[in-house]
Amino acid sequence: ASITVVAIDGPSASGKGSVAQRVAKHLGYGYLDSGALYRIVAHAAQQQNVSWQDAEALAALARGLHIEFHGEDVLVNGQDVGDAIRSEAMGKGASEVAVHGPLRAALLDVQHDFRQAPGLVADGRDMATVVFPDAAIKIFLTAAVEIRAERRYKQLLAKGAAADLSTILEDLKARDARDQQRAAAPLVQAEDAVLLDTSAIDLEQSVAQAIEIVANIK
Ligand code: C5P
Repeated sequence: ASITVVAIDGPSASGKGSVAQRVAKHLGYGYLDSGALYRIVAHAAQQQNVSWQDAEALAALARGLHIEFHGEDVLVNGQDVGDAIRSEAMGKGASEVAVHGPLRAALLDVQHDFRQAPGLVADGRDMATVVFPDAAIKIFLTAAVEIRAERRYKQLLAKGAAADLSTILEDLKARDARDQQRAAAPLVQAEDAVLLDTSAIDLEQSVAQAIEIVANIK
């Protein structure tokens, strides 16, 4: 039997991670958080004094990493980095290392290994365009940048963290620009992807619409 891949791409703080995880659970499929891979590389590079600018060294580093996901836990060569890679600093680091073609190539096999029966929901920036171009279902999940900034702001406040809305908005705009304008696998809606704009709907509604998109195509 063929393995169904649901590719979900979109910008930072669009909620695609939460939607993708819930869709995967609903379908009984596996889940790939591809952004975590770039965060892992940024973190490992920092630990090993490898520059975020050194494409070849980052690619070599990535090939030497043994990565295991166990729910929220992320083991890299046996070390749990689940919390460390979730920081804003590693989000920024991820978007810097992610511009390098050789590193992206080095992470392809890791991502393809997640394609296992009965299916996979993969979220990222280039799931539908580069990593799983033959995915049966492609969703481009986005929201207006002001809405995404507000959601992130509320999340940080709810966690008791300090947050400044205008700083978050500027950071998100910078992240969007870097992801969209890079030469290697830029963030773009695949021609055959269904657009899901969550600007005016909440997480539950986003999940319901994503499940409906999957059901209509599958
Ligand atoms: O999704 P997340 O915020 O964890 O991704 C962090 C960064 O990793 C993104 O800003 C993007 O630059 C990069 N990324 C990527 N390709 C992916 C997933 C993430 O370039 N498939």
